[in-house]
Amino acid sequence: MELIIKNGRLVSGEGSFEADIFIADGKIERIDKNISLPNAEVLDAAGRSIFPGFIDPHTHLDMETGVAHTADDFLSGTHAALAGGTTTVLDFATQNKGETLTEALKNWHALADGKSGCDYGFHMAITDWNDGVKREIAEMPAQGVTSYKLYMAYDALRVTDAQTYEVLCEVKKQGGIVGMHCENGDLVNELIKKQLAEGNMGTAAHPLSRPDTVEAEAINRYIAIAELADCPVNIVHLSSQAGLEVVLRARRAGRKVYVETCPQYLLLDDMVYMQPNFEGAKYVMSPPLRKKADEAALWQAVEGGDADTIGTDHCPFMWADKQLGREDFSKIPNGAPGVELRPQLIYTYGVKTGRITEEDMCRLLAENPAKLFGMYPYKGALAEGADADIVIWDGDYTGRVTAKTQHSRCDFTPYEGFEICGRAEIVLLHGQMAVRAGEILIENGGRYVKRGACRFWR
Ligand code: URP
Ligand code: ZN
Repeated sequence: MELIIKNGRLVSGEGSFEADIFIADGKIERIDKNISLPNAEVLDAAGRSIFPGFIDPHTHLDMETGVAHTADDFLSGTHAALAGGTTTVLDFATQNKGETLTEALKNWHALADGKSGCDYGFHMAITDWNDGVKREIAEMPAQGVTSYKLYMAYDALRVTDAQTYEVLCEVKKQGGIVGMHCENGDLVNELIKKQLAEGNMGTAAHPLSRPDTVEAEAINRYIAIAELADCPVNIVHLSSQAGLEVVLRARRAGRKVYVETCPQYLLLDDMVYMQPNFEGAKYVMSPPLRKKADEAALWQAVEGGDADTIGTDHCPFMWADKQLGREDFSKIPNGAPGVELRPQLIYTYGVKTGRITEEDMCRLLAENPAKLFGMYPYKGALAEGADADIVIWDGDYTGRVTAKTQHSRCDFTPYEGFEICGRAEIVLLHGQMAVRAGEILIENGGRYVKRGACRFWR
C-alpha cells in the first residue's frame, strides 16, 4: 500500500517542519514538500503534529508475580499502547530461578509472538546469575537483546552487588546497558516489618516502608558499582528528588548515568495513600509516589534534559487482586496501569503547560528510548528508511480520563478524572492504519524488534 501524509508538521527532537511523508511497503520512502503520486492514498494532516511512533521502554505484560498476574497480556496491553500512540513496547523477559536466559527469552516470545498489537522487544531481567548465564550474555545480541534489568529489591528477584558488578562487566562487552530497580531491599524488608509491628496495616504505610533514602542509597551504590565496571547505566522509574540529586552529583563527577522517570512520579503524590476504603491500593507501586517537592524536582529534570526517557512501568493488577493486601499493605500487588495514557499525560501536563516543547516530548517518548535501546533510526524517527510507525496528533482534543473507556483490561486507572488535551488521532504501524479516533483497527500486527547496540550520548 502506498500512502502520502500531507501538510502535517513533522516533529523530531531537533525541531519541526512542514512536509509530506510518502510511505510504501511499511517504510517511510520519502519526506519532501508537495509530494504527489497518482496511485497513492492521501491522508490530510493539516493542522496536526506528526510524531514518530512512541516507544514505551518499561512494561510488564502477562507477568506472573507468584501471587497475582498482570491484568494485560500482550494483546490487550499493546492495544492500550496503540490507542495512545505507542507503537513499540519494551517488556521484561524475566528469568525464573534455575532457567537459562535462552529459556526466559523463549517464554516471553511464547507470550508475545503473534499476540501483540504493536511492535515489541525484550529487556532481559536476570534474577539467577551463574557461569552459564554469564556465557549467554554474548549470545543475546544475536537474539536482538542488548538491554538488561536487575533488581536491588524484591527477594525473589534481587541480585547481590558482586553479581551486579559481574553483569555490568559482561554486558559492557556487548555494547549493552543494564537498567536497575534501585531500592535497598534489606532496608525495605526491615521497614515493612517495622510498619507492621507498629500496627500500620493500611496503604499509608506503603511510602513509609520505602522512603526516598532507600532509593537514593541504592542509586548511589549502583553508580559506584558501575564506576568500578566502567560502563554507563540506566536508572529505571526514578521517583525522588533525593535519588535525582545522587544522579546529578555522579554526572558532575563524570559518571554516565541515564534516567527514566514515569508520569506517575510527575503527576501524583503520596497523599493518595491516605484515601479511605482501601482506594490507596490503586497507587501501590514501587518505588511509591512521593511528595509535591519530588514531583517538582522531576519536572525540572524533564524540562532541563536531565531525564532521558519517560516510561510507564505499566504493571496493572485488577482491583480484585489488590484486595490481597486489604489487611496488610505489604501483600498488595505492586504496580499500576499507564501504557495508554503516557503521551496524553505528557502532552497535557508537559507541553500544554509550557514546561516542555513537542520536540522534548518526541525526544523523551520516542527518540531517546530508540537510541538508548538500539532501535534508532528505524524506530523513534521520521526519516527516510525508517519503519512507518507514525502518530498524527490532534492537539486540540480535550477529554477526561476514565477507566470505562480504556483499552487496558485493568478495571481502574490512577488518573481517573484527569483532564486531558491532545490525542493520537491516527496511528500507523508499519504503514498500516492501526488506530483512528481511539478505535483499534488491527488485531495482532506487532512484530518482534531485534535491537542493536545501544547508542550513548552521555
Ligand atoms: O510496582 C511496580 N513497579 N512493580 C513492577 C516491578 C518494577 O519495579 O518494575
Ligand atoms: Zn517495572
